[in-house]
Amino acid sequence: MRQKLIAGNWKMNGSRSFNANWVKGFNEAMSQCVTQSQAAVMVCVPSPYLSQMSDLLKGSQLALGAQDVSAFDKGAYTGEVSLSMLEDLGAQAVIIGHSERRAYHAENDAMVAKKVKATISSSLMPIVCLGETQEQRLAGQTQSVIATQLKAVMDVLDPDFERLVVAYEPVWAIGTGLTASPEQAQEVHAFIREQLSQKTRHANALKILYGGSMNAQNASSLLSQPDVDGGLIGGASLVTQDFVKIILAAGI
Ligand code: 13P
Repeated sequence: MRQKLIAGNWKMNGSRSFNANWVKGFNEAMSQCVTQSQAAVMVCVPSPYLSQMSDLLKGSQLALGAQDVSAFDKGAYTGEVSLSMLEDLGAQAVIIGHSERRAYHAENDAMVAKKVKATISSSLMPIVCLGETQEQRLAGQTQSVIATQLKAVMDVLDPDFERLVVAYEPVWAIGTGLTASPEQAQEVHAFIREQLSQKTRHANALKILYGGSMNAQNASSLLSQPDVDGGLIGGASLVTQDFVKIILAAGI
């Protein structure tokens, strides 16, 4: 039985005061819950706020993640943030290859693979994002797109590596209010697990998250699918009441 993981991706949102209020609101909303969720919970925040969030989350069950990392160790890479810096700031995970980085920052499969490879030798958990565009889905290319994106990652993967998390994030569902149906998500998740089993010994234990307009209303039907092991939540993770509802949906 895989423990579910609900991870918020704040994207480029937050401020020192927003962050403090969010943690306060989150703790209040969690303390008012009658039932406890069994899910692991994480929030991935912009790098400049990792240090503040790490302090705010001391003693809490909420894990902390970053949204990107440099593929390089250190040196003359202006603007980049290294793995050791993320570790130093208290991050336990990092999102790699989000479709917004692929679309707006020209990240390709080779770059994603380099970042995954570097992360594997750190203490961080890589959360690798994959997903097809609307055109690719309509053209019947969903599986081939996912297989190509995943192969680049599997090529650098040690078969014994256990910390990999994959997030299926159909590009057409991100921030659009359109969501993959539970059946569509399950079909792709099962495909990803089958592909992973060709390389890793732990395909049945690895978590595959769904991301793309997951919210308090649709979370439980998506999370009840056998291969949907949690969610990577954008917009709804900024609203603590909604985020907590999704966490509760994962625990039942
Ligand atoms: P939304 O939940 O806002 O659609 O974003 C999903 C996402 O991109 C998470 O990484």
